[in-house]
Amino acid sequence: MKKSKIYDVPASIAKEAYINTEKYHTLYKRSIENPDAFWAEQAKEFITWFTPWKSVQSGDFDTLDIRWFSGGKLNACYNCVDRHLKQRKDKIAIIWQGDDPNETLTLTYAELHEKINRFSNVLKNLGVKSGDRVCIYLPMVPEVAIAMLAVARIGAVHSVVFSAFSSDSLKTRILDADCKLLITADEGIRGGKTNPLKKQADKALEKCPNVKQVIVVKRTGGPVPWNKERDVWYHEALQQASSECPAEKLDADSPLFILYTSGSTGKPKGILHATGGYLVYAAITYKYVFNYQEKDIYWCTADIGWVTGHSYLIYGPLLNGATTLMFEGVPHYPTFSRFWEIVDKHQVTIFYTAPTAIRALHKQGDQWVKSTSRKSLKLLGTVGEPINPDAWEWYYRVIGDKRCPIVDTWWQTETGGILITPLPGATPLKPGSAGWPFFGISPDIVDEQGQSVEAGKTGNLIIKKPWPGLMKTIYGDQERFKETYFKTLPGNYLTGDSAERDEDGYFWITGRNDDIIKVSGHRIGSGEIEFILNSHPGIAESAAVAAPDEIKGNSIYAFVTTKSGVQPTQALEKELIQKVRDEIGAHAIIGTIQWAKDLPKTRSGKIMRRLLRKIASDELTDLGDTSTLADPGVVDDLIADKEKM
Ligand code: PRX
Repeated sequence: MKKSKIYDVPASIAKEAYINTEKYHTLYKRSIENPDAFWAEQAKEFITWFTPWKSVQSGDFDTLDIRWFSGGKLNACYNCVDRHLKQRKDKIAIIWQGDDPNETLTLTYAELHEKINRFSNVLKNLGVKSGDRVCIYLPMVPEVAIAMLAVARIGAVHSVVFSAFSSDSLKTRILDADCKLLITADEGIRGGKTNPLKKQADKALEKCPNVKQVIVVKRTGGPVPWNKERDVWYHEALQQASSECPAEKLDADSPLFILYTSGSTGKPKGILHATGGYLVYAAITYKYVFNYQEKDIYWCTADIGWVTGHSYLIYGPLLNGATTLMFEGVPHYPTFSRFWEIVDKHQVTIFYTAPTAIRALHKQGDQWVKSTSRKSLKLLGTVGEPINPDAWEWYYRVIGDKRCPIVDTWWQTETGGILITPLPGATPLKPGSAGWPFFGISPDIVDEQGQSVEAGKTGNLIIKKPWPGLMKTIYGDQERFKETYFKTLPGNYLTGDSAERDEDGYFWITGRNDDIIKVSGHRIGSGEIEFILNSHPGIAESAAVAAPDEIKGNSIYAFVTTKSGVQPTQALEKELIQKVRDEIGAHAIIGTIQWAKDLPKTRSGKIMRRLLRKIASDELTDLGDTSTLADPGVVDDLIADKEKM
């Protein structure tokens, strides 16, 4: 059983918290016992509907045709921007902090509205229609928010691709979603280094004949290749467009966005989120998890290319009329004080980041923090991977000066919003635990047969009932959606995570129990890595697994077998690492390659990854059942070879 120190709710937060412990339990009970009434209330509070819905929710985890707020009509952009114009037109919606500390820009709700309207007209003039998919391959610049919201305003569907992805990854995603138009920039800039986005986009587009237009944001002004028939400068098009574009009235169930994420096997999955349910869920979780108040300055450090960037950099905050800060750079540039200097400069009150960043900064020592004030901070959050109690304590003690509660929020691209989290004011904090389920969420921890396990035992984390933020489907592949999440334990949503629950009902997420590797919070499929390694002419086969890493949480550890006659050399090792990086993106770096004469397999030829994970992690005392191995000697060889490395 996980045991830990308990931190009571800090007095400063308790005073202005929306929820206390008692209220949490009452509301949670109601949300589970009477979900329709609960979600109807939330949908009324957080969203302006053009037409009210007829039914709150229909369908279940057996039929898998789940609909929220059917019959209702709304628009995501209208709710993020227009809805606030009456009360908050001069309030800052977006603070943009450039990579260069001297470069800052702000957009009020009224300014954001005008730019979005113009850009919506640009898109329309270029022939984009409701339902069309538009790919956005942009760095962290305000135009990324404008583009997403303009796409949503006209009823099209955005598919944002993380700007560190390679041209190959971009191509795969454009083709899978059959995007019609691409929005990119000349170059990105992070940590003082440029990233040639337009060049990469051009390369990807060589194989994407259906993309007829490219809109290019001028970020650095660096030289770019130009195709006169196809490419349009963003700033030129914007100037010429009208500043009035009515928001489309869309069905609650219509798609809002596709976001690609790695699965355990095969190509990345296009996670599709529908409009009504997603927005209600992003809005309510944002308000309560961050205890958001009108005057807050909120900063989420996630990149827009990941789901956190969608739900808690754009949609959640803007739906609540908040001021959201967007940062172009990295935590270590120009110095390791960067995050905290930004906090001071913009008087940030709520700060949301990844454990990996906390660990990396912790390692550099306290002096980078102590030189800053951070007095404005009220609340801290983490997301993306388990946070070790050591890093949690440092975050709490040194960054938050023991004044700010930490919300360790557990969720996934598929879940749309936060599912398990402490609520400030309501949940006494246990470092390393994600706390209790959010309203309407019914998690359980079960064994392989689907039976609940007792407190203190590890098992599979499942969710038993639908909630509004859940993905609609995998784009173009409803079968894969069923197979991946609902086949193993029918009637439940399988998260793919292992977890345990303690006697106080707190959830402790221990990590993935499938073949997804979380590196610095980024999700990478072992299948994707192996596919690339195996396509090298000198490689016979490979298996990539997670090995623990002090800073990144996990690193990629690949066991690789060369073809007969091919020597495993250092040069080949370097080449393979580069190949994976080139084909996936700069975030996919293999930490270790171990040459393997053979891989451990069952008699039917299946690679036993469980054993490889143990070898990579140096957990050699209990290898578990090895009796099904075709050749048990293979494992001994791998262990002996590892010791020599
Ligand atoms: O393993 C869990 C881990 O991140 C996975 C989801 O990754 P992704 O879809 O990229 O979304 C990340 C941002 C929401 C989960 O299956 N994870 C996420 N948050 C936590 C976490 N693991 C432990 N604690 C968390 N707070």
